[in-house]
Amino acid sequence: MQVNHAIPLFEYLQAWPGIQYVHQSNPQPYRKAELEAIIGPLCDGVDDELGFAPGAGLVSESISGLYADVMPGQVGVFAGAQEATFCVMQAVLNKGDKVVVITPVYSPLVFTAEQIGCDVVAVALERAECWTLNLEALRLAMQGCAMLVINFPHNPTGAMIDLSTLESIVSLCDEVGCWLLSDEVFRGLEYDASLRLPGAVEQYDKGLSIGVMSKAFAMPAIRVGWLCSQNQRVLRDAKRVKSHLSINNSLFDEQIVARVLPHANTIWQRNVALVQKNLTVLERYLSAEKARFHFIPPQAGCCCFPILKCRDAAEYSVLLAEQKQLGVRRQLG
Ligand SMILES: Cc1ncc(COP(=O)(O)O)c(C=O)c1O
Repeated sequence: MQVNHAIPLFEYLQAWPGIQYVHQSNPQPYRKAELEAIIGPLCDGVDDELGFAPGAGLVSESISGLYADVMPGQVGVFAGAQEATFCVMQAVLNKGDKVVVITPVYSPLVFTAEQIGCDVVAVALERAECWTLNLEALRLAMQGCAMLVINFPHNPTGAMIDLSTLESIVSLCDEVGCWLLSDEVFRGLEYDASLRLPGAVEQYDKGLSIGVMSKAFAMPAIRVGWLCSQNQRVLRDAKRVKSHLSINNSLFDEQIVARVLPHANTIWQRNVALVQKNLTVLERYLSAEKARFHFIPPQAGCCCFPILKCRDAAEYSVLLAEQKQLGVRRQLG
């Protein structure tokens, strides 16, 4: 098959009539009516004036309620997880610092550290029955590091670690004295709720837990994320960085968040049910395509990472598009 590599794959697929290219690493976003069935009319309790949120306080209590052992004063509120990650990395990292990440990795977790001038070192998850973190490899990589970045439930594999592995990670961080940045944006989407981990912030005085409304809560339209830390200086410095970005959050968004988060369990259950339903369809497909894929089923979150054995994702994507839209490709010339 001829693949026109001159056209980036994204544009190529966009050009097919009838194909809506949607890339989202979140469950199907909530519809307004669906959410209203849980919290009541969306605008109830929303200020008439659509202003900025006050600098502190409005949602920190409901965010702290997502954890067993986090105080409202340990919560910083940001315009998304992306902003929280950027701000906290800017606040605690310096040029030349060593940062360890676990790969494959959601790339902004690497780029921000690289832009600061950090030396980013990767430790790969190992492929076995399930994705596995090699703690000895991690220990070796972490010598002299300033920050370890973890992300469980993991994007893109859907891997989880258990509590004893998290405790071992915390011990490794403690030995080195490094920050533990824990991207917990999919926390709540464990297929077996007993796998849910405490926040890194609850386990370690240098633990930094990041969460957001867009992922486990499936509400990307509500642009609120958070950073939880036991360290007041870090929270203050991260907020200072935010003052160069979004400055204040949206009052409207935060007022909705304060009403949504007390229903976290209901919302997570809806999302897990959707993800599992879709996963059944995907697994049926992948088991028929065993020759093409190596697949380790996810344990949590809404991402998984089938590995294409032929290693040419562009060609395979075009093949799929052609199977669905035979004849249309010719229009691309
Ligand atoms: C692992 C992970 N962390 C953080 C984010 C950022 O979330 P947001 O864009 O809602 O801030 C994403 C978004 O895809 C993600 O997948």
